[in-house]
Amino acid sequence: MDSRNLIRFLFFTFVIALLLLLTFTNLPAYTEELLDCPTSSRWCATKNRFIKQPQPPKTTTTNLHTSDEPHHPLDPLTLNEFNTIRSILLSHTLFKNSNTYALHSVVLEEPDKYLVLKWKHGDDLPRRKASVIARVNGETHVFTVDISTGVVTPVDVGQHSGYPTMTIEDMTSSTWAPLGNPEFNRTIMARGIDLKDLACLPISLGWFGKKEENRRLIKVQCYSMEGTANFYMRPIEGLTVVLDMDTKYVVEIVDKGKNIPIPKAAGTDYRLSAQNHQINLVNPISIEQPKGPSFVIEHDHLVKWANWEFHLKSDPRAGVVVSRAMVRDPITGEKRSVMYKGFTSELFVPYMDPTDAWYFKTYMDAGEYGFGLQAMPLDPLNDCPRNAYYMDGVFAAGDGKPYIRSNMVCVFERYAGDIGWRHSESPITGMEIREVRPKVTLVVRMAASVANYDYIVDWEFQTDGLIRVKVGLSGILMVKGTSYVNMNQVNQVDNLHGTLLSENVIGVIHDHYITFYLDMDIDGPENSFVKVNLKRETTASGESPRLSYLKTVRNVAKSEKDAQVKLKLYDPSEYHIINPSKMTRVGNPVGYKLVPGGTAASLLDLDDPPQKRGAFTNNQIWVTPYNKSEEWAGGLFTYQSQGDDTLAVWSERDRPIENKDIVMWYTLGFHHVPCQEDFPIMPTVSSSFDLKPVNFYESNPILNIPPNVEKDLPVCNAASSA
Ligand SMILES: *[C@@H]1O[C@H](CO)[C@@H](O)[C@H](O)[C@H]1NC(C)=O
Ligand SMILES: *[C@@H]1O[C@H](CO)[C@@H](O)[C@H](O)[C@H]1NC(C)=O
Repeated sequence: MDSRNLIRFLFFTFVIALLLLLTFTNLPAYTEELLDCPTSSRWCATKNRFIKQPQPPKTTTTNLHTSDEPHHPLDPLTLNEFNTIRSILLSHTLFKNSNTYALHSVVLEEPDKYLVLKWKHGDDLPRRKASVIARVNGETHVFTVDISTGVVTPVDVGQHSGYPTMTIEDMTSSTWAPLGNPEFNRTIMARGIDLKDLACLPISLGWFGKKEENRRLIKVQCYSMEGTANFYMRPIEGLTVVLDMDTKYVVEIVDKGKNIPIPKAAGTDYRLSAQNHQINLVNPISIEQPKGPSFVIEHDHLVKWANWEFHLKSDPRAGVVVSRAMVRDPITGEKRSVMYKGFTSELFVPYMDPTDAWYFKTYMDAGEYGFGLQAMPLDPLNDCPRNAYYMDGVFAAGDGKPYIRSNMVCVFERYAGDIGWRHSESPITGMEIREVRPKVTLVVRMAASVANYDYIVDWEFQTDGLIRVKVGLSGILMVKGTSYVNMNQVNQVDNLHGTLLSENVIGVIHDHYITFYLDMDIDGPENSFVKVNLKRETTASGESPRLSYLKTVRNVAKSEKDAQVKLKLYDPSEYHIINPSKMTRVGNPVGYKLVPGGTAASLLDLDDPPQKRGAFTNNQIWVTPYNKSEEWAGGLFTYQSQGDDTLAVWSERDRPIENKDIVMWYTLGFHHVPCQEDFPIMPTVSSSFDLKPVNFYESNPILNIPPNVEKDLPVCNAASSA
């Protein structure tokens, strides 16, 4: 091999490894049968990369899903159904006569809500249909495919800006494409980077006007992998390639970072194998369930635990979808509806640096990248405890062929040492009472790695009826290269747009917004949204020794604009979803309330193009009338969208929402000012919100549960107290 060929060989080896790392980390989950993968292929060689640990018994046999069948109206498409849909589409004239096509989304078209509500176990399933978003010869099409009849019906979704979610193939090929351009190669080499060390990322470029219209564009930025697996910490700062995603034509190469060094590799690697010593801070710890778990998952999707039952599935765009969540009433024993459907509708992640290589970084991770597509296999014993059950995702690739994302979701019971309720009497009363109940919950978890960042989403169910939705952020910062190595060189700190984390590395300030779709159906679809405002009242002079006190004022939202809520600490409200036609024994409407936790609001200018596209974050709470086609807060076609199809636009119609089937939207926000502890990888930061019963039950629903006793817990011994 002459040296040129050697370089070429090394280059390909690295690029393939890199592409695997960036976009195909799911590949270990593919089975050879599905992928037709020759065993000599490097893709297959990486198959076991994730299986570092012995898997718990439930997951040792790989489920090929070949015999999956739908059992519930909301069950996701099966492997066989995907194959049927593919052959239906390929024999359709539009596809047969096309030069190019790609399927950007193939998911179950859920039956109408009334059909799902009417359906009982044992009934025939409603007709199985798929909703397909395809690009054929450069045009976007939406179809309904009837799986049993093979009929393909075009769906009119109206005229909107934007393109469908990228396919994995779009992302992969975009990272390759610049290498076809000699100027790109020259630019990389001029920056002192060996082409074999190159790692590139496909970065959605938002929309800022004419330049981003009428063609699918993407920006590519690159890093050096030399000496580290954490190439994100070694940006080739200032270099941006604009690429036409359909033709792979390089539209523009801009390098404004020629004087900015590539940060060093030392200290950036986070892998255990790269650490020269290991510190064991705690002894091994695990939850034991001597009698086994208390939940069952029927046909892989219907979860039954304690007093809860819900349907659970994975989704390429939303990640996980929780549907038909019902809780048993302790008095009547009936299953009562709480939520028809809940999921992560969109994420919005704007970076706070207006300069050339950064201004466009305003990601929408669900609509642009597919939050579920980026959900990686969970790591047993570390992502989820030993007692976890794992669920796979089955999705379609751009060519319509199905593939399996193994261990994408886990379900487990959690006992975190917390207290469900308690009371003990003080000796003053002479009564020896100490009643305490432990809190055990059920957690549904997924973790998405959207390139550098990792999002952990938990749906946690409590026996007292509360649902806690928690988002954890971890992974690796998107950093900026700089010539500064110490803060004493920086004159104007606010021009850094972030924090100097290490020599030549700035962690850029950014926000994260995660918008949840919450179709609450409290004892039925017809509900109202009530703001229970806490108001200070002042007493009349001489009325009371008190000058002021609080009282509640209930405001039932009549139409959408009444339900656009900005949270305020000094003008607080509770946010109730009630069923106005169902009262408790003493006459309160049954309901659930949304309880926001720590959160953040977007401070961007409302006319800033990213904020227009992300206008669903203009309020923390919105309520809309149920509409099957309004599920994606950033619009159906988010990629390069202009903000003409967002939740904010729908809500402006101000439709009536009182005593109607309504959907609540809540946005959980984080401002992230990076700090040195976030380098080279971030300890998890979490925030959550609760959906909590409010006069839903007649009284405490877990009064009758027993406490823990020693004999039921044979495994663990408490440490001898000092
Ligand atoms: C750029 O470099 C890569 C790696 O050496 C090579 O495969 C590719 O052909 C080069 N592109 C051009 C246009 O020369
Ligand atoms: C349902 O949503 C779609 C998309 O926003 C809209 O075009 C349609 O008018 C809505 N229907 C109603 C009844 O609001």
